[in-house]
Amino acid sequence: MSYHNPHTPPRKSATFDDATLAEIRRAAATGIYDIRGAGTKRKVPHFDDLLFLGASISRYPLEGYREKCDTTVVLGTRFAKKPITLKTPITIAGMSFGALSGNAKEALGRGATIAGTSTTTGDGGMTNEERGHSQTLVYQYLPSRYGMNPRDLRRADAIEVVVGQGAKPGGGGMLLGQKISDRVANMRNLPKGIDQRSACRHPDWTGPDDLEIKILELREITDWEKPIYIKVGGARPYYDTALAVKAGADVVVLDGMQGGTAATQDVFIENVGMPTLACIRPAVQALQDLGMHRKVQLIVSGGIRSGADVAKAMALGADAVAIGTAALVAIGDNDPKWEAEYQKLGTTAGAYDDWHEGKDPAGITTQDPELAARLDPIAAGRRLANYLKVMTLEAQTIARACGKNHLHNLEPEDLCALTMEAAAMAQVPLAGTSWYPGKAGF
Ligand SMILES: Cc1cc2nc3c(=O)[nH]c(=O)nc-3n(C[C@H](O)[C@H](O)[C@H](O)COP(=O)(O)O)c2cc1C
Repeated sequence: MSYHNPHTPPRKSATFDDATLAEIRRAAATGIYDIRGAGTKRKVPHFDDLLFLGASISRYPLEGYREKCDTTVVLGTRFAKKPITLKTPITIAGMSFGALSGNAKEALGRGATIAGTSTTTGDGGMTNEERGHSQTLVYQYLPSRYGMNPRDLRRADAIEVVVGQGAKPGGGGMLLGQKISDRVANMRNLPKGIDQRSACRHPDWTGPDDLEIKILELREITDWEKPIYIKVGGARPYYDTALAVKAGADVVVLDGMQGGTAATQDVFIENVGMPTLACIRPAVQALQDLGMHRKVQLIVSGGIRSGADVAKAMALGADAVAIGTAALVAIGDNDPKWEAEYQKLGTTAGAYDDWHEGKDPAGITTQDPELAARLDPIAAGRRLANYLKVMTLEAQTIARACGKNHLHNLEPEDLCALTMEAAAMAQVPLAGTSWYPGKAGF
């Protein structure tokens, strides 16, 4: 006979918590894995776990209103005849037309252009809205080759060869049938209304030697003018960065596991890849070991939200950052003003991530013409430009407080870590000590 103490409250398992139980039941009822958009939702060590030290007597701060703090960045100085110059080191990451509406792509182009930065195409090709409204447009060359053509390579200002993404290193993309409109199908040369799965690896090469040949091909097609980036998901950042440099990259784009995606299996998003914070120092180390730091530029992405995040990524050695999720929020994604509609979809503002279903009330992750028309690309572009301006000002404020007249002059020495994990990953001392795990002595 079992004994139950009536005074003991029922106790739930930490291992089998409510979310786990719900997922087991969902899987048992449907027999299909969960697909969603956005990045990891679990808490991992991040830029919040770092603080700037600021200047006082041993360091001399700069005066905000009188002393300049430069934010410009030049990308593609290694081989490209026409490197690109941006006024702010905050770029807009590649997000596909198909995943996003034409209006959303236009808004990103408009906002980036006002702010003096670049935007990027995605798995699905270049739209005229985006090209027309983006002063500096980076064209992605992806394993799927959807929408790829030499004419658009030449219309771009830079080319990004996508090897992987932080949300799913080793995985391909998904665009479900609901979002394959006539236009999306036409651009991808695939039938309308049928689920599309992008390849997880490029059909044209198997390793860095063939990648080098592919890059030469892309350079020939574009007359050696355009900077060529290589984008990798954060998994083995030291070796991937070194191999990207060997293959001939002008710029390495490194996307950590917090990086957003349009649609991927939840189990993939939550269990594959390394936190952005842990990716930066090994990548910088690889560049330094090859004598290429600042010669091959490093763009970091995955969970960047504020000027403080930008400044921290740069202090750890990045030349620039890219934002995806935050840019979508700035143009109107998950806006509480659509709460009644999020409720009808069984979710709430701030948690809506079924982007693959194409029912986005904000008109951003949809191809439904009525929903897409809700997003005014001009007003949304202005919001993005405002947000980029604020982030740039924030990063400048921090850099000046550290006595730096350019964001690139921020350095690991300007930082301390709040936790042992962050200290180990960022290789900056735990606050109040001169030590981090892995470093000998105190
Ligand atoms: C809606 C959406 C669509 C995306 N589509 C692509 C894509 O087509 N190609 C790609 O390389 N990355 C894609 N990404 C990933 C972004 O380029 C970037 O790596 C990521 O969003 C950065 O992290 P963040 O969202 O935390 O800023 C997508 C991300 C989102 C949110």
